[in-house]
Amino acid sequence: MDSSESRRLSVSLVDVAEGREKDFLAFSTHFQAVLIRKEYGRAEMIRDEALPLRYYAVRYWIDVASAERCHRDPEVQALTLQLYQMARVTHVVNGVRRNDPIRLLVDERRAPVEADRRAGFDRRVKDVGRPEGDRRAPRDRRIGPQRMRDHGGEIDLVGAARRARERADAAFSHFKVGAALETVDRTVITGCNIENATYGLTICAERVAMFKAVSEGYRAFTRIAIVADTELPTPPCGACRQILWEFGGNLEIMLGNLKEPKGTHHLKDLLPLPFDARLL
Ligand code: THU
Repeated sequence: MDSSESRRLSVSLVDVAEGREKDFLAFSTHFQAVLIRKEYGRAEMIRDEALPLRYYAVRYWIDVASAERCHRDPEVQALTLQLYQMARVTHVVNGVRRNDPIRLLVDERRAPVEADRRAGFDRRVKDVGRPEGDRRAPRDRRIGPQRMRDHGGEIDLVGAARRARERADAAFSHFKVGAALETVDRTVITGCNIENATYGLTICAERVAMFKAVSEGYRAFTRIAIVADTELPTPPCGACRQILWEFGGNLEIMLGNLKEPKGTHHLKDLLPLPFDARLL
């Protein structure tokens, strides 16, 4: 098989059984080490914040031959068996398969996704929408029937913000903040504050989340959760309110600490009379 014609990435959905998450995380660390030690490539487990027991197992193979060697390796086969006992695994991208030209053609014909007319992006274009802001609540009305992901359960957005907060880099203030932003298709994108020795370059959790989302192509959002380890809630700073407004519009803002939710607001109330591109 000619490796230049073949994909070298494999992706699987891993739905971990309730109560087995700790075992799975230990397994995952071990599995990643094996792939590196045996020079097959490397693996990454990405948590789906909308479904906390779902992970995406991404394997980056060095080349197709190493992927094939890995699949034949008895140590890896034994590990895979262990995985099947703690999770349901669905393979979505097979890195060893040859590219299928018909499939590629179909993919190219897919229509590009149109941004929601009332999405945050519109506030960055002149003559769109109403200067007093978009009428966005209740959020379910915004895009008609809401697309539920896999199951109809509520997303624990505050929980996702708490987990993101653990990754904060707050060496100077020691004030760690986590944020979790929900898109209209119910994808969750997280952020944490990242500080810098030249203090002014520090960036807040909310802006990290929003910039990550925009850079990944998301343009329409419903809610953001913000968590800090404080008794009083931590609302977004002025700069973040502006960025959230421009890209997210009248978002629902859920505040919380490590123990409990601390109230929900709408961005329009936190940023009355906003400035945006429609006024330029
Ligand atoms: N911070 C945030 O990340 N979000 C907020 O809503 C308030 C403040 C960060 C910035 C800085 O790293 C630290 O908290 C102290 O201001």
